[in-house]
Amino acid sequence: MTMFRRGLCILPVLFLSGNCQFLFPFLHFDNPASNGLNFGSDGDITKEGVAQDNVETAYKGKWELFTENSGVSAMHLLILPKIDQALMFDATVWKISKLKLPGPPCRIVEGTNEQDCFCHSVLLDIETAKIRPLRLNYDTWCSSGALDVNGRLVSTGGYNNGSDTVRILDICPNCEWQEYPGALGNGRWYATQVTLGDGRFMVFGGRNFPTYEFVPPEGQRNAKNQVFPFKFLAETHDPVENNLYPFVYLSTDGNLFIFANNRSILLNPNTQQILHEFPVLPGGARNYPASGSSCLLPIRLQPDETRKLIPAEVLICGGTSHEAFTLADLKRPKVFVPANKDCARIDITKRNGKWKIQTMPSPRIMGDAVVLPTGDVLLINGAQSGSAGWDDARDPNFTPVVYHVHGQKGGSKFTELAPSKIARLYHSSSVLLPDGKILIAGSNTNPGYMDNALFPTEVRVEKFSPHYLDPKLAKFRLEIVLDQSTNQINYGKRFTVQIRGDDEALDEQKLQVNIYYPAFTTHGISMNQRLVQLGTVQVIKNVAPKTHNIILQAPINGNIAPPGYYMLFVTYNGVPCRRAMWVQLLL
Ligand SMILES: *[C@@H]1O[C@H](CO)[C@@H](O)[C@H](O)[C@H]1NC(C)=O
Ligand SMILES: *[C@@H]1O[C@H](CO)[C@@H](O)[C@H](O)[C@H]1NC(C)=O
Repeated sequence: MTMFRRGLCILPVLFLSGNCQFLFPFLHFDNPASNGLNFGSDGDITKEGVAQDNVETAYKGKWELFTENSGVSAMHLLILPKIDQALMFDATVWKISKLKLPGPPCRIVEGTNEQDCFCHSVLLDIETAKIRPLRLNYDTWCSSGALDVNGRLVSTGGYNNGSDTVRILDICPNCEWQEYPGALGNGRWYATQVTLGDGRFMVFGGRNFPTYEFVPPEGQRNAKNQVFPFKFLAETHDPVENNLYPFVYLSTDGNLFIFANNRSILLNPNTQQILHEFPVLPGGARNYPASGSSCLLPIRLQPDETRKLIPAEVLICGGTSHEAFTLADLKRPKVFVPANKDCARIDITKRNGKWKIQTMPSPRIMGDAVVLPTGDVLLINGAQSGSAGWDDARDPNFTPVVYHVHGQKGGSKFTELAPSKIARLYHSSSVLLPDGKILIAGSNTNPGYMDNALFPTEVRVEKFSPHYLDPKLAKFRLEIVLDQSTNQINYGKRFTVQIRGDDEALDEQKLQVNIYYPAFTTHGISMNQRLVQLGTVQVIKNVAPKTHNIILQAPINGNIAPPGYYMLFVTYNGVPCRRAMWVQLLL
């Protein structure tokens, strides 16, 4: 197998004029055009890397309307493992949606005798679009969540009585929400939940609470002294916040990278020590309501991994100025400032990591950064001006953009794809599906369900096929032979995935196996989204006609990939397999 040598090429430091008014010594601007066939400043590009990740196609993708009415506007969206259902929910606070509960009991509205007979949470079958209503009592408005080792969603926080609630949804066919109000030590409204390498969860911040805590085991409650004050969040609080839904990522060394407003640190979750502060990212704010898009970039492993430190990088794109919310939400007439066009990237495993900045083809706020099965990133949804908040944004950004993590021929990091016709602004969401398409849902810039607003409450759900689903490339879409493949894998151990393709001859250099931890997406943040590119130990060809076995090494520990369910994708020639297989990674 091909090895990827990192840090071998040193590219010139160039300042791209017009990109930013200030030149900060710790910033590394690169000018894609001047590099010719080179690929920015990552220093980890080899010809092989590009060949493996990048597909050659001029296809701009395809949009399809999946359902006219999902019943509930998907403020929060997640794919549940194995059962292939998209979980969508918004808030109980409006007491209305586009779907009535199938029958009694209705929800009793907090502190009143009023009944709410509308549904605020549904499961949407990702093949048939069939909807199953779920009952919810404690408000999930602007909540957080992550999957546990058994594939259950553990959701935290929300609004009002929901703000200190932990709720669990299991993946059995008739499961309902289990709600545990009072489980958290502080209210968590606009907080971020992160999964640690041992499978525990932490939850960070939320309105009025610059603190964090570990999520207690099911049925238990956190005492007040189990809440840790977190000065970093207090310090990054602008008058209009800009530090909610902080970006939190588990790094490969077990520490947490936490980004709020324009600052970022590395926190040891066990000692509560701040180990490092990264350079400030200038040019505006990136967290709610300035809502940029962010993801952890793919973690690339080698076969028989021996490295002590495995590189990990974070990408943050778009956002807006510190004042954008004030101007759009509080000033009359409203002023909608253009969103940021920058995309910044940093290695979070290096103490001298610096931001590398590139310019997107269009400005974006409230977009989602979806890590694709190929390892590239899709920037989708959002607006080109204004802020998060009710009726605070304009100029929907209809055009998805691929961010090529390893660059592409010609030098540009970005490719614009086919535009959608549906505005997806505040409270929109998107998730990666097992067939490589993206499910796009939600958008509600109104306090309640409104059909006559400038941007009506959106219950239409679309599927977007990215560039790699070019029909001309269908011959590269391999099939995973499920009953000949391992679907429970253990840290560091080898396992087999069997594939079947159209070709007798398989070019193993063009084969890559990636595992994807499903994201909990809300407000432009995709919590715990993670793609790990596995090392291929061996390919045994033609074990049956057109059928091959790939021997892989599972990630060596939970800091590289926390325990739980992953979608396993085999890509060939930069084209994902027909359908991902769910694998469970266990200790
Ligand atoms: C929710 O909170 C209200 C006060 O805001 C309280 O009166 C009510 O009893 C609570 N409801 C539940 C179900 O705990
Ligand atoms: C970072 O954000 C703070 C708080 O809004 C602001 O005062 C500061 O100027 C920003 N720094 C840079 C370099 O943009």
